[in-house]
Amino acid sequence: MSVVIALANQKGGVGKTTTTVSLAAALAARHLRVLIVDADPQANATSAVGATKDDEGGLYEALVDERPLGDAVRDTNIANLAVLPTTPALAGAEVELVSVMAREYRMKRALDALRPRFDVILVDCPPSLGLLTVNALAACDEVIIPVQCEYFALEGLSHLSHTIELVQRNLNPRLVIRGVVLTMFDGRTNLSREVETEVRTHFKQTFRAVIPRSIRLAEAPSHGEPINVFDPLSAGAKAYDDLADELIEALRARDLLPPLPVKVTPPGLPVAITATPTAIMTTPAPTSTAITSTHNSQTEQAHGGA
Ligand SMILES: Nc1ncnc2c1ncn2[C@@H]1O[C@H](COP(=O)(O)OP(=O)(O)OP(=O)(O)O)[C@@H](O)[C@H]1O
Ligand SMILES: [Mg+2]
Repeated sequence: MSVVIALANQKGGVGKTTTTVSLAAALAARHLRVLIVDADPQANATSAVGATKDDEGGLYEALVDERPLGDAVRDTNIANLAVLPTTPALAGAEVELVSVMAREYRMKRALDALRPRFDVILVDCPPSLGLLTVNALAACDEVIIPVQCEYFALEGLSHLSHTIELVQRNLNPRLVIRGVVLTMFDGRTNLSREVETEVRTHFKQTFRAVIPRSIRLAEAPSHGEPINVFDPLSAGAKAYDDLADELIEALRARDLLPPLPVKVTPPGLPVAITATPTAIMTTPAPTSTAITSTHNSQTEQAHGGA
């Protein structure tokens, strides 16, 4: 049981990478085994978790030469969180795949082989609707669409919806739009509130959690740390915690996650990684009351410190 989720929007700078990394770290803190797949040659997700671009072979080789991805997966300094770093060669994949048979399924084959090792695989897409994004949409069970709370927020979303429909019709009938995430929300402006209303009107599946504009979220990548490590009590960390909880609830309803305890690990602990299935399975299962109280105390802390 595992789920692959693509974070896609062909618009640049809307918060795809920030959401991939922050959400991944929040899910990992909830004892899920999480893999970030950096499918963007810009390598922002790779560096945001303190990893480096990998020359050893990875996604590019899997897509173009159909080589297995196993060895390319790297642990991070965060417990339960691994990353598949991007490679400099990935930029060429869009062009090289054009003449390949069944080219849209290359990423699916590669990621399906990794499913037994992870509960959640998040794919950070590049800002285009080219073959890398189409491969990610064909490979995933669900797609999350980050939308920046600014003028023209909805522009381009009809194009993205159309692409998703085409993928559903021709490549991946099981693909579900999990929801839109509103990012860089500034509560002091009417504009942010208007965009929120408009997006919620058009997209019923908009997450309740809204990501605020926060300098701490912008600073975290330069330290190679996700927000729940860099500043666990910040408003940004709290928002991504809420998003993670909402996502887990939805995935559990679809039976896409194992019935594991959702217990938050105090963030920032330098725990050696490699979340093995055994490590996960030996975690004592608390009662549902214990789960709620653990989460609430974290939430209150976050409120108090934000
Ligand atoms: N909630 C936020 N508050 C403040 N800054 C943010 C927030 N989210 C993202 N940013 C900043 O905005 C910029 C764009 O964010 P990000 O890289 O996550 O977008 P992206 O959609 O992945 O971009 P690209 O399309 O280039 O891949 C980055 O500098 C990031 O640090
Ligand atoms: Mg990005």
